[in-house]
Amino acid sequence: MKYSVLRGRQWMFALATMSMLILAVQVGTAQRRFTPKPTGPWDNKSLSPDERADLVIKQMTLDEKIAMLHGVGMPTDDPFTVENAPSNRGVGYEVGVPRLGIPGIDMSDAAYGVRSSQANGRYSTALPANVAAAASWDTDAAYEYGKLIGTELRAQGYNMSLGGGVDITREPRNGRTFEYLGEDPILAGTLVAKLIQGTQSQYVIGDIKHYAFNDQESGRNSVNITVDRRAAHETDLLAFEIGVIDGKPAAVMCSYNRVNGDFACENKWLLTDVLKKDWDFKGFVLSDWGGTHSTEKASAAGLDNEEPGRFFFEDKYKAAVTAGTISQAELDEHVHRLLRAMFAAGVIDHPRERSVVDVFAGLDVARKIEEGGVVLLKNTAGALPLNAGSIHSIAVIGAHSDVGMISGGGSAQVDPPGGNAIAGPGKGATHWQDEIWFPTSPLKAIKERAPNSTVTYDSGEDACKAAEVAKGADVAIVFAYRWASEGMDLANLSLQHYRLNGKDVDQDKLIEKVAAANKHTIVVLETGNPVTMPWVDAPAAIVEAWYAGSDGANAVGNVLFGTVNPSGKLPNTFPKSEADLPRLKIAQPPAHEFSGPVSPEVRAKGAPAFQVSYDEGLKVGYKWYDAEKKAVLFPFGYGLSYTTFGYSRLTATAGDTVKLSFAVKNTGDREGAEIGEVYATIPDPTEPPKRLIGWSKVKLAAGEEKTVTVEVPRKYLSIWDEAKNAWTLLPGDYTIMVGGSSDNLPLKTTVSLK
Ligand code: BGC
Repeated sequence: MKYSVLRGRQWMFALATMSMLILAVQVGTAQRRFTPKPTGPWDNKSLSPDERADLVIKQMTLDEKIAMLHGVGMPTDDPFTVENAPSNRGVGYEVGVPRLGIPGIDMSDAAYGVRSSQANGRYSTALPANVAAAASWDTDAAYEYGKLIGTELRAQGYNMSLGGGVDITREPRNGRTFEYLGEDPILAGTLVAKLIQGTQSQYVIGDIKHYAFNDQESGRNSVNITVDRRAAHETDLLAFEIGVIDGKPAAVMCSYNRVNGDFACENKWLLTDVLKKDWDFKGFVLSDWGGTHSTEKASAAGLDNEEPGRFFFEDKYKAAVTAGTISQAELDEHVHRLLRAMFAAGVIDHPRERSVVDVFAGLDVARKIEEGGVVLLKNTAGALPLNAGSIHSIAVIGAHSDVGMISGGGSAQVDPPGGNAIAGPGKGATHWQDEIWFPTSPLKAIKERAPNSTVTYDSGEDACKAAEVAKGADVAIVFAYRWASEGMDLANLSLQHYRLNGKDVDQDKLIEKVAAANKHTIVVLETGNPVTMPWVDAPAAIVEAWYAGSDGANAVGNVLFGTVNPSGKLPNTFPKSEADLPRLKIAQPPAHEFSGPVSPEVRAKGAPAFQVSYDEGLKVGYKWYDAEKKAVLFPFGYGLSYTTFGYSRLTATAGDTVKLSFAVKNTGDREGAEIGEVYATIPDPTEPPKRLIGWSKVKLAAGEEKTVTVEVPRKYLSIWDEAKNAWTLLPGDYTIMVGGSSDNLPLKTTVSLK
């Protein structure tokens, strides 16, 4: 008896071992398919991506076609399977057509760097938050930003980026504001196009998201956004239009929310009429994670790929094709788009190839982008830059500035090397929606730049003690932050309270107390969203450093000590108070609704909608404050420099485009860069008072003057005509205004257009 029990156990053990071996062999085999060799007539590079895609489709079985329409789960969280084995264990994987040598699509989140480093034991550079790149207004920097992401994705073994967030900052309390590129559609669209081009230059499929109107996180799975077509096109959609047409992303991610009744991922108007027809988008549309709600409806509306799973676009899809409720042609159209995107982005001709991420090159890019994006908000009596030679003591206070700088959370989160940098309990491991600090120490950066000063650190947990420390120093530098993340919005725009050693740190109070104790107080903000500043008059200088990225402390150090002259300008208005926003509060879903990921069963029914109406119409961001005549704290396009600039000689010439020319002169005594901003008043009283139509960032030596030209497409001066369903230029006189901030436009001219 005992003998036979043992034998039974042995058998079980042998069976388990065998099945593990079989899985290991299968996994090994699948992994060898990591770089399948194209084997067929489509391996002819002289053919167009469309022709090559069609040649593949001809040889595909129905099951192979269906397999391309969906992901196989989230490899990051799922156990190894034969299907996901060739994946790089990112957030999504679509299997490709191994039999024909078509590789899988291996996706990673990559908003400000490649995600899931911790889970996979890898290293990724954290670039400054996207909003910081937007604050640079620098198209070359946006390209470098995207290129670095593409390079590191490829080095880690991925061939698709889930980045390119460009939802407009209509609601500054949106928890994902740091992942986006500001409140102006032309600025955001232009920059995202460059970012996508940079990413795709590395043979990585680029993406633009979240299409569209995902402007708040609260109730994102059920909210129904109502917006009229003109406002839709002239605001959020314009950013996507520019991004799609100029950036040519191979993929578009549709968003969770509903738009005018239909979920974005089954919204024919958005996906087919606007994106695929009007903008001639040739790539594929994938759903946000769990954003698919149906089979026939979504497919007919233009959704090409369900992510990350297969509830609607596998068995149900096959059954619909077999039953004829989805035609073969419709199926082939979706498959064509996926294959075409792969050929166009080069992921078939240039298979994934791992290499070691170049840590030092990444730090360099991250630092330079941050240096170009820091915005100097206030600088009384030349409080900055600091002169290391004449300062004897510096008090560095608050926001864990001894050890690190904060980063943005959610699916954008890049994991810091060594884990969360903060001292004490939370150090090390990182989890979803933890506040994560990168090990880039402002204290260290400041000490290095002021080797002859006594630099003292105070945590800020006791405002009175911090003020005492500040009082005894020549200069006090207070670091203050507001963390934000996907999956939540901010209740207000204040600096947050946080707990430290059992105490509540009230950062507003801390700044007030320190500034009262030391006239030479400098505030450095680490935020993704605009902030309100009840203490704005108190400190001598205020610097917005955003979420500063992997080498943020060196970038901020260089700005504080003047090695870098700040040149960023706000891509979002900083209002005086939440009371000045179009909505007093962000609409919340009814209490019974769940705002996290929703199960497919619930999605199939469609979570009950709650309504948010974009009644502000065309008046988004500065257009709102302008039209409503609301004074703001710091306007859109605003930012100081350590030098000064003068503007002159504006001319405007109308042709196929409107060509503007003006001179910018560095009237100060140090080198700097200025962003010359161009706005227009549209001859239509229903339009907001002005809109940004172009800009140029120009580097100038002390005393140097340059003539700048800006070419404005007529579309940027047009209105969306609902009746014609097209951009229309109204004949009339257009006032053109040029200057260094939306509230300071010294040059003016008029151009007649017809
Ligand atoms: C986010 C997307 C992200 C996806 C995959 C979703 O929750 O909205 O931006 O790409 O998850 O992580």
